[in-house]
Amino acid sequence: MTGTAFDFRDVGYAYRSHRALDGVSLRIDLGERVALLGANGSGKSTLLRLMDALAFADRGAAFALSAPLSESAMQEEAVNFAFRRRVGLVFQNPDVQLFNPTVLDELAFGPLQLGWEKPRVRAAIAVALARFGLAPLADRSPHRLSGGEKKRVALASILITEPEILLLDEPTAALDPASRADLVGVLAQERGSGRTIVVATHDLDIVEDIADRAIVLDQGAVAADGPVAEILHDIGLMRRSHLIFEPRRGRPADPTAMGGS
Ligand SMILES: Nc1ncnc2c1ncn2[C@@H]1O[C@H](COP(=O)(O)OP(=O)(O)OP(=O)(O)O)[C@@H](O)[C@H]1O
Ligand SMILES: [Mg+2]
Repeated sequence: MTGTAFDFRDVGYAYRSHRALDGVSLRIDLGERVALLGANGSGKSTLLRLMDALAFADRGAAFALSAPLSESAMQEEAVNFAFRRRVGLVFQNPDVQLFNPTVLDELAFGPLQLGWEKPRVRAAIAVALARFGLAPLADRSPHRLSGGEKKRVALASILITEPEILLLDEPTAALDPASRADLVGVLAQERGSGRTIVVATHDLDIVEDIADRAIVLDQGAVAADGPVAEILHDIGLMRRSHLIFEPRRGRPADPTAMGGS
């Protein structure tokens, strides 16, 4: 697949007075699988929100699928619909995403929005229920599920329409080991599929399976961008960006380290 999924040029974004992104430049081609790495607060979720046109750059220029990511462009219903059909974001916090009365309705929502015929919707729901182990929860209210169950419903509800560009924010957070392995399997299978995947994660163990390229954010800027293996093995970079933490050895634990006296 050729073409550009995202082209960000010196992009900035501030929440009121707090600058979350500061001069981000990056290009992601269609079909790439990219991991977004960075410490808490480094700007990963904010960058994904900009990629999903939920927020807009206040500095620089951002493009998705060769069109400007601007508020005025997205206000046009046809543009918005075409964008939503091609790009899907799974939020870090599933509570923000789930709003239907039952899990079944939640899964049906995206396909129905896209105007799929009923038999196609039913078939896709059956696959999603099986793939994410959700069949026993089908008639439950998404809001009354456990954290990990909610996360699985949120993932399934976005993956069901197979968006060309899939944005995932901490997809394995809250998942139990089996669900996590299943999800990693799903994402690993996407290698070479042509789907563009951008995943923000703190789960370094899965990065090599789910991505080929890693972009490291540090305080709202790109600190590194390269092949996953190179980035993960750059110990200095990983330490500087607070992605690995090694307690000092050979010394007794310091009881005042947390500020106690
Ligand atoms: N709604 C908000 N209002 C004000 N500031 C915000 C808001 N959301 C995020 N921020 C700030 O913007 C910065 C970037 O936050 P962001 O959520 O993008 O980080 P992150 O890399 O996703 O972190 P995490 O690993 O904790 O998910 C942080 O300093 C955060 O405090
Ligand atoms: Mg985040």
